[in-house]
Amino acid sequence: MATDSRARADRDRWDAVAGTYAETVGGRTDSFYRRFAPFLADELGDPSGQRIWDLGCGHGWLSALLAADGAVVDGVDGSAALIETARARHPDLRFEVRDLATEFAADPDGYDAIVCHMVLMDLPVLDPLVDAVSRALRPGGRFVFSILHPAFFNQAPSPSGDAPPWSRSVTGYRERAQWWVESFGGHRHYHRPPGGLRRRAVAA
Ligand SMILES: C[S@@+](CC[C@H](N)C(=O)[O-])C[C@H]1O[C@@H](n2cnc3c(N)ncnc32)[C@H](O)[C@@H]1O
Repeated sequence: MATDSRARADRDRWDAVAGTYAETVGGRTDSFYRRFAPFLADELGDPSGQRIWDLGCGHGWLSALLAADGAVVDGVDGSAALIETARARHPDLRFEVRDLATEFAADPDGYDAIVCHMVLMDLPVLDPLVDAVSRALRPGGRFVFSILHPAFFNQAPSPSGDAPPWSRSVTGYRERAQWWVESFGGHRHYHRPPGGLRRRAVAA
């Protein structure tokens, strides 16, 4: 089973910033969630009674919100420190440490829905996750993910002080790249244009 050495270093990094991350992010009032909630509602409808896999669950806040709405949730993440926090905060839920960038087990047709909130751009390779999703999602189930928009994230801002209409010059959007980003104490970000992900997901 091939393991990407970048994934090991990334998971160590998330361990190192787990405290900062868990204090900064999460809950129904968090701006991350407020932006994601309408898509969840459109795609999942009422989560009550649904089996949901939360891939890259971090400290488990989204798993806990879905569980509070009646879903049966399993959360997995590559950071042992974040999973430890998830277990401490939500002892009734099931959480597991797994590297999502290395092939991992998936119950065939095990889930009605799979959520993956702000994770894909933090993984060096996507094939293991896409393959697991395609195995684990029951026919007709939903895979709902969010990413930072690759055309706009980390691009230089447009000059301030100009009169509208404003514009922004976007460079390197179609090239794959690895960036170090400072958010949450610093971690690696894998920039990729969305077409490849869409093609890979559809093929799976
Ligand atoms: C931006 S956080 C999002 C966490 C959570 N979904 C949320 O919304 O708060 C990215 C997550 O990806 C996880 N991650 C990064 N690389 C990983 C890997 N190789 N395997 C599993 N999880 C990984 C990190 O541990 C972290 O929890």
